Amino acid sequence: MKLSRRSGTIEQSHIRSMTGACNAVGGINMAQGVCDLPVPSEVIEGAKWAMDQGINIYTPTEGLPRLREAIAAKMKRFYGVDVLPEQVLVSDGATGAFYTACLSLLEPGDEVMLFEPYYGYHRSTLTSIGAVPTFVRLEAPEWTLDMEALQAALTPKTRAMVICNPANPSGKVYTREELESIGAFAEKHDLIVFSDEMYEHFLYDGAAHVPALSVPGLKERCVTMSGFSKVFSVTGWRLGYAIAPLHVIEAMAQFNDLIYVCAPAPLQIGAAVGLERLGDGYYAELSQVHQHKRDLFCAALRDAGLSPSVPRGAYYIMTDVSGVNGSDDFEKAMAILEKTGVASVPGRAFYHDDAGKNMVRFCYSKPLEVLQEAAERIRKLR
Ligand SMILES: Cc1ncc(COP(=O)(O)O)c(C=O)c1O
Repeated sequence: MKLSRRSGTIEQSHIRSMTGACNAVGGINMAQGVCDLPVPSEVIEGAKWAMDQGINIYTPTEGLPRLREAIAAKMKRFYGVDVLPEQVLVSDGATGAFYTACLSLLEPGDEVMLFEPYYGYHRSTLTSIGAVPTFVRLEAPEWTLDMEALQAALTPKTRAMVICNPANPSGKVYTREELESIGAFAEKHDLIVFSDEMYEHFLYDGAAHVPALSVPGLKERCVTMSGFSKVFSVTGWRLGYAIAPLHVIEAMAQFNDLIYVCAPAPLQIGAAVGLERLGDGYYAELSQVHQHKRDLFCAALRDAGLSPSVPRGAYYIMTDVSGVNGSDDFEKAMAILEKTGVASVPGRAFYHDDAGKNMVRFCYSKPLEVLQEAAERIRKLR
């Protein structure tokens, strides 16, 4: 069978092959962003209760009212942002939310700016629907926004941009000033801003999350994406959401219905119960625990002679590996795996060109004892 042209447009990163290579040597997989921490009991109990109550059938495609209300309440609770429950679409992960948003708002040929290093799914989702990603480079180790680079990437075809805040893979947390500059730029050039805020609760060194919805200029033109995969450690539940103006949510709901019908019914209740019942302490601990893990692994990388860029959010570390044997990022990541048994992602997975050739990314959202073992092993690189 001849495959469609579209099916050839999705670039597979080396994440899967690194996972395979890691399994083959019984290594520690720090390549994949799987948060394997315990799920809060409130969330599990909520989902079990829902199953027992018979909440096992299709829900409205927009999501159960209880969950949409809990998401709107969460925006008020954490950020003081007013959102109507009707402005929330529950989807199959933030991944589903982004896909339906792109289908609803973009035409084939529209250019969409991505900040580099980017999250691969953003690029692939855009490509899969015929949009054209363009790239604005942020430089390690600070990843500071460069408005001149943004201006230079703008063309008459530019229709939107994607922000990942906090960012996978760089760990960048956008400041309010940066977001205001982006807001003014987006307003001036009438751009849509897709804001992926998946890691909003993973913040370090006192950093605060500034949601796009709280920034003038962005508020009216952003689609916010977030979800429960990371905050409740339920990546396999496939539960996320978008917040957008009502007419956009109505369009997105049509695609959500077509592609997914709805998100899993009892799991929606589990997430709603989590949002309703978990106190501020839960979220504070998430950041504390991950900050400790970040520090532990960054110290090991430095001891190994590497130069990590210290993330302020999310749970990945991009590190320079120029000194490791190998002609490119893939060979270097394989050399690290062979020598230490720790798997990482070759840096070019996050760049459209060779800029990631001397970088790899580690995901440090691992149980503490696994991370300690990984840190010990990484020190052997010296
Ligand atoms: C930036 C970012 N957005 C979205 C996702 C996926 O979210 P979900 O599991 O809700 O589809 C990930 C997962 O790694 C991510 O890193």
